[in-house]
Amino acid sequence: MSIIEVEDVARTFTVRRRAGRFKRERTEVRAVDGLNFRVEQGQMVGYIGPNGAGKSTTVKMLTGILVPSAGRLRVAGADPSKERVRLARRIGVVFGQRTTLWWDLPLRDSYELARRIYRIEDARYRRNLDRCVELLQLGQLLDVPVRQLSLGQRMRGDIAAALLHDPEVLYLDEPTIGLDVVSKNRVREFLAEVNAESGTTVLLTTHDLTDIERLCSRVMVIDHGRVVYDGGLEGLHDTGRSERTLVVDLAAPEPPIEVPGARVVRVDGPRQWLAFPAADSAAPLVAAIAARYPLVDLSVREPAIEDVIARMYGGEGTVEQGIELVQTN
Ligand SMILES: Nc1ncnc2c1ncn2[C@@H]1O[C@H](COP(=O)(O)OP(=O)(O)O)[C@@H](O)[C@H]1O
Ligand SMILES: [Mg+2]
Repeated sequence: MSIIEVEDVARTFTVRRRAGRFKRERTEVRAVDGLNFRVEQGQMVGYIGPNGAGKSTTVKMLTGILVPSAGRLRVAGADPSKERVRLARRIGVVFGQRTTLWWDLPLRDSYELARRIYRIEDARYRRNLDRCVELLQLGQLLDVPVRQLSLGQRMRGDIAAALLHDPEVLYLDEPTIGLDVVSKNRVREFLAEVNAESGTTVLLTTHDLTDIERLCSRVMVIDHGRVVYDGGLEGLHDTGRSERTLVVDLAAPEPPIEVPGARVVRVDGPRQWLAFPAADSAAPLVAAIAARYPLVDLSVREPAIEDVIARMYGGEGTVEQGIELVQTN
């Protein structure tokens, strides 16, 4: 038995749209449509896709907040919507766009509440709280009302709240959205440690490919409510033929740089943008440019997930190394 089992799951929403002055039209939105996957215990899986792909709807069904319209869902052997209360003790969830903390109370009080709700025994509560406080650097923040925390501090507080009861499965829906680099790194290191130490299964939704690179050996891409890719991140780059961008600042404006292995996609005064295959190293490219042009500064931009996915659809929908791309309209 896999810890998460999703079989032919669908979820539709009925929405009313204005159609003329008095008329309202009812239309169906298929947020999730024939979704299939399994996650094994202890895996850390990236769950990505463009806006509106159905990621949050999936997480809500897996936590039992939403009931599927069709199909079969099991988390730790239980049906999430039917056994929501029993399952609550075994799962943790963080929605980046929403806090589960009490806005007007100090962090500590929200944790105290979690302790009572989940009936966490004292020794375990103290051990888990200490670990979160140390690794997420919450020590100075415990007595601060949540509304006074920065987004990064609040997010760290939320992640701790989701882990105090030692859940077997942790769902994170955009936990790094809007965070500064330092907070992002802290959150990533913490999640890696929790996964390694406690064997917590993690399903991570994010727009930041670096989150996936650092944390997940497996990534699932969903689009239009279906899994369109399931495999390693490297395979995703290959499949999507994705490109990174080298941004160079020259001492003065120059005609577009000509260098093998890259092409200029934009020029703005002394700054030029060069696209090159994401799988290639930037080092030879930088060396070649530095040898022939007055290079002042440079940076490398990772491909945005949207671009990677857009390229997947731009292609011919191939089957490569057992990776199936399903064309949906
Ligand atoms: N409660 C709802 N009522 C109507 N439509 C919804 C509702 N929740 C989600 N949707 C629609 O379902 C689709 C998938 O949404 P969502 O799961 O939030 O996507 P994602 O998290 O991948 O951005 C979108 O088209 C969205 O507008
Ligand atoms: Mg979402």
